[in-house]
Amino acid sequence: MKNGKLLEVNNLTKVFTKGQGFVKSTIEAVSRVSFALELNQPEIFTLAGESGSGKSTVAKLILGFEEPTAGGILYRGRAVANLKGRKEFMKDVQPIFQNPFETFNPLKKVQSYFFETERNFTGSGHGSYPLTDKSLELVGLSFAEIKDKYPSEMSGGQLQRASIARALITSPSLLIADEPVSMIDASLRMSVVNLFKTLKEEEQVSIIYITHDLATAYYISDRIAIMLRGQFVELGSVKKVLDNPLHPYTQLLESSVPAPDPKARWTEDIALSDLETREYTRKGCKFAGRCPKVHEICYEQEPEYHSVDERLVKCHLYAQDQVRCSSRPQIS
Ligand SMILES: Nc1ncnc2c1ncn2[C@@H]1O[C@H](COP(=O)(O)OP(=O)(O)OP(=O)(O)O)[C@@H](O)[C@H]1O
Ligand SMILES: [Mg+2]
Repeated sequence: MKNGKLLEVNNLTKVFTKGQGFVKSTIEAVSRVSFALELNQPEIFTLAGESGSGKSTVAKLILGFEEPTAGGILYRGRAVANLKGRKEFMKDVQPIFQNPFETFNPLKKVQSYFFETERNFTGSGHGSYPLTDKSLELVGLSFAEIKDKYPSEMSGGQLQRASIARALITSPSLLIADEPVSMIDASLRMSVVNLFKTLKEEEQVSIIYITHDLATAYYISDRIAIMLRGQFVELGSVKKVLDNPLHPYTQLLESSVPAPDPKARWTEDIALSDLETREYTRKGCKFAGRCPKVHEICYEQEPEYHSVDERLVKCHLYAQDQVRCSSRPQIS
């Protein structure tokens, strides 16, 4: 393969206009986001951050549900925007949504989704659906467990497993899972999270895992990107970033989550839309208004990425440390 990357996201930017009339404001919901996933080296890459930080917009841009304002996405070295490659891309990159009850039509039997997907994929399939059986087995379900069932006859955990199984029929290389366990009963959450780990390890599937939940992120991810108002503010191995967070925003997120409790989410009451718009439109560092370590420069000048202790951190505090880095930071 041309360049050794499965996915390359380069300076991805999405501008939205919020509000109406005189109170209109323009925000960069995704602002010059860059990262890459390697080919033949499956990983779980987590996007974490408060509500309204741009996580889902990144996912939608990669999936082609939204058009980027600037920047680009390469999949296996080819521009995703290139429609010729689109069909292949749709098989190879599969979304997993937050609420499995919204993924499936309540009036349609769950099995019909499997049959349709397998028929479309293989161009055959009458009576026997080997890929359906195999993908159900991969997620720990059997056909008997979904046979003739409507979505309402299954639990949230079972149905989310079924939605992952359906996504696996086309043997994707990448799953993009946006809050895949937040609507699932807490007791079943870990089984789905564990499934992602197994899929990575045994089926070589890479996963972009979007979550509020740092505990599950810590448990399954290889790398994590912490998002704040459209920007990556810290990016590195999950162990480095969460064991010893450097950005004051990552520190805030961590301190409000009791680590061992996978159910825990940080409080979102501070993510009021007023604050959100103010931070999105603030010059300098987006976090300056809430940062306990703020300096004057933070209100004036946007921080650069600094490569510190094996991760990238977008914070003026580390400008000095940067001097010790010999090479330019690489976001991949
Ligand atoms: N279609 C849209 N039009 C205008 N603004 C949008 C649109 N989609 C998202 N936004 C805004 O972009 C910002 C980022 O939204 P996004 O949904 O990507 O955040 P998120 O990190 O996924 O949040 P959550 O954790 O609540 O799912 C928010 O301010 C949101 O209101
Ligand atoms: Mg979201």
